[in-house]
Formats: sequence, C-alpha cells, structure tokens
Amino acid sequence: MEFLVKSGSPEKQRVGCVVVGIFDRRKPSPQAEILDDACEGAIASVMRRGDMDGKLGQTAMLHNLPGMFCDRILLVGCGKEREFEERQYRRVLRAAAQRLDRVGGVDAANYLTELNVKGRDDFNWSVKQAVLVTQDVFYRFEACRGSDYKARERKLSRLTFQVPRRSDLPAGEAGMREGEAIARGVELAKTLGNLPGNICTPTYLARQAEELAQTYSGLTTRVIEEAEMEELGMGALLAVSRGSREPAKLIVMEHMQGPEDQKPTILVGKGLTFDAGGISLKPGAEMDEMKFDMCGGATVFGVMRAASELNLPINLVGVVPSSENLPDGDAVKPGDILTSMSGQTIEILNTDAEGRLILCDALTWVERNYSPAAVVDIATLTGACVIALGSHAAGLFSNNRKLGRSLRDAGDLIGDRAWPLPLWEEYQSQLNSNFADFANVGGRQAGAITAASFLHRFTRKMRWAHLDIAGVAWNKGARKGATGRPVGLLSEFLIRRAGQADGE
Ligand code: BES
Ligand code: MN
Ligand code: ZN
Repeated sequence: MEFLVKSGSPEKQRVGCVVVGIFDRRKPSPQAEILDDACEGAIASVMRRGDMDGKLGQTAMLHNLPGMFCDRILLVGCGKEREFEERQYRRVLRAAAQRLDRVGGVDAANYLTELNVKGRDDFNWSVKQAVLVTQDVFYRFEACRGSDYKARERKLSRLTFQVPRRSDLPAGEAGMREGEAIARGVELAKTLGNLPGNICTPTYLARQAEELAQTYSGLTTRVIEEAEMEELGMGALLAVSRGSREPAKLIVMEHMQGPEDQKPTILVGKGLTFDAGGISLKPGAEMDEMKFDMCGGATVFGVMRAASELNLPINLVGVVPSSENLPDGDAVKPGDILTSMSGQTIEILNTDAEGRLILCDALTWVERNYSPAAVVDIATLTGACVIALGSHAAGLFSNNRKLGRSLRDAGDLIGDRAWPLPLWEEYQSQLNSNFADFANVGGRQAGAITAASFLHRFTRKMRWAHLDIAGVAWNKGARKGATGRPVGLLSEFLIRRAGQADGE
C-alpha cells in the first residue's frame, strides 16, 4: 500500500473513491458539504432517503454521481459532532478502511484526516493514526494456508490522506512516515505472534533477529546459547527450558544510532514460544492461545524494526529471552530451588509462573552488560492482569515516576494504552519462602502485582518499567489473532525520547 499526504479540494479528485464524514444527524462535514454542492445535492438526497444518518461507524458507498471526477464517494458516519473525540476518530477510520479493503478502485482520497478531533489539532497525529488504523485493518495472516488457498485480492493500492492547507503538509508527511514505520513493526509483531509454536520456536526467533540485522545496516544481533547461559549462571532461565527439547535462546539486538556517550534504552520481551505450564500443567481449554506467550518478545522485534525504519537517533537494545515451557521427565518441579544469575535463590511453587524466571535472568544480564538509561520489560505475564484491566490497557509498573509517566503518555497519544498499578513494598512478603530467598508465586491475591514485585527484586538498581500485556497482546474468539500491541506505545515513547536531548 502506498500512502500519500496531499492538500486539495474533494470535488476535484480524479480517484476511485473519495471518503468524507457525515455527522449525526445528517450533518455533512465541511468536505462532504463541498462535494454535495458540486454534485447537485446528491449526498443530501441519499441522506433524505435514509441511507446515511451519520451514526458512528455507518458507511454508504455512492456511485455515478453527477459532476464528479471520482468514481465513488464513501460516506462515513461520525456520530455527534460535539462528541467527536479520539475514540470516535479511530472508529471512523476503521469503518472507512474496512470498506476500502473491498472497494474496486485502485486509489482513494481520504478526507477524514481533515476532521476536527477534540483536543488534537495536529496533522502529524491525525495522519499517523490514519495510517496505523488502516494498516491494522488491512493486515492478513496467510503464512500457514495450504496450496489451494486463494488470498483475497485488494484492488486499492494508493491511499491519500488529505490535510486542509499546504502548510499542513510537513506535519502530515512526518506523521505518515512515523505511522508507516510503526505499522511495519506492528505487522512483524502480529505475524510472529500468530505463527504457531511448532514453527515459531526459540531458534526461529533467533533466525528472525539475524534476518533483521541483514535488512537493517544499523542493527546488529547476537544470540546467547544454553552453554553460555550455563557459564553465566542463568539458573532460572535454564530451569524453564529443561522440560523442552527446543534449546532456549537469549536474543540481543542492538541499534546504537545515538551519541556514543548516551546510555542505551533497553527493551526486554518475554519470548515463551509455547507455555503449557510445565509440570503445573494448564487446563486444556484455550491452551492453543499460549502460542501468543512470546508476544512481549514479538513486540521487541517490532519496535526494533520501527526504530530501524525511522533511523531513530538513539541507543536502543532489544533483548528477548526465549524458551518453551513443557512438562517432561527432566522438567523443573514444584519445590525445586534454583539459583538465578543474580545469586538470589528461588523456590518454584508453580512451574506455570515461568515468564518471571526467564525475565529475571535477562534483566540481570542487562544490568551487568550495560549501564542503561532505562529498562522496559514487556510480558504476557499474568492472567490476573487480564482480570484487573481486561483487554483495553496493559498493566504498567515502574520504580521511576518519570519513566512511568512517559510510557503512559506515549500510550495515550497513540491509542495503545497502559494503566498504572502499584509496586508497593508491602506486596513483597507474599513471595516469602521457608526454603529459598523467595518463591516464584505469591498466592491468589494481586497476582499481576506480585509478579511485577518478583521482577522488581532484579531491577532495583535500574530505572525500570514493566508492561504486563497478557490482556492486550491478542484478540480472542472470532477475531483471534495477535494485535501487535504495545509496539505503538513503545515506538511513540522512543520517538519522543529521540526528540529529547538528555535521553532520560
Ligand atoms: N503466560 C501466562 C500468563 C497468561 C495466562 C497470559 C493467560 C494470558 C492469558 C503465565 O506464564 C502464567 O501462566 N501465569 C500464571 C501465574 C500463576 C501461576 C501465579 C497465571 O497467570 O495463571
Ligand atoms: Mn505460565
Ligand atoms: Zn507464560
């Protein structure tokens, strides 16, 4: 898909489709008004016949309009004008993209980007949103279909987002470039997430990192194998991997494009390519969804791709500890005690709390090998976080107010939200163990928080944040599939960080 940003009148567009908004009730947007004048009131008459009231998300495709250079006009219902906020704007963009996905023409000019969104009056934002929502709708996962499968063709290949004035073009174009780079990252994260566990193994992810390094000259990759993990004393990561025949990998990607003396920002993503729970085996229902347990890792891949596409002038490191969690005669058992790389010992009370085990050694490795400006880990860590926040926001934990705030702001801006949960010391006692330094689970209460508190025992010396993405990383039911979240949040966070001098 080719995206463009232009400014120009809707009635003059020689394209397959012109897209304009209609507010509730039957109130044309300024762009629809101009079109209506040029086509002798044809839009007003469609509204009078009852085919478009302006209800949020409603669409109507009009053909053969008199006096028009375009082949079609797509009307999109925007809801009440005074309620037109970010949520409504995204909804309208989605409805338009869904319709354009099936349109017969090769090009379209979308005027929804000219609508006034309450609280957002910059075209970097509007165009970026438009590119992201459109690419989200256009995504298909077709890597695993058989030889008779016929992919549905999309005729549309060129989509222009309109801005009102020529002076708005630079902002719109910057938004488009950022949107396209982030969308590439989201696409990669979705595809890695959607690939099944028998294809997307730790070894596959390591190969993927090497391919990224071949594609982008600013990116280098290194993979730490199990033998080296032994030498490093990564007893927690290795304990998870024992029950699996697939060797674990610790994947490291470096994008050092900032000033030499700038401390790096580090992302650590949970890369559990399949989580059966281990000896504490999960129940069968929906267990297939545990192929998505590497979505934190997939997010890191996606963000590295977006940062590379944008040539972001920052020092950025992506780390993905990757393993399977399966039951086996050699698997780690409840009651077993391990020594982590940090030297702290851990009593395993539930082998299904494995994410924190692979992450804690990766975090210690990061602390020992870099002196990071900030570390953010991303993990499908707890079912408890899904109970707390559902699928609208990731859980956000941080030992640094400013870092937590920046992550939250970035998520709000791009529409990929995270919401703060506490890291108070009072929760730590839930991890007490009679036999080791602490246990890997903290009982039924506050499960998302005790998981974060466990990680905090490995990150006290760093500026650190943790995103529990268990509720947001994939959709369930008929729309089952990876969402690519929170690639948007983190990319926006890094874009803003790149714009700041101090890198903090
Ligand atoms: N990957 C799961 C968390 C998960 C569960 C994410 C369901 C999304 C949906 C994680 O490894 C896990 O199993 N966590 C346990 C922790 C418990 C044993 C303390 C959980 O949440 O049940
Ligand atoms: Mn688990
Ligand atoms: Zn897991």
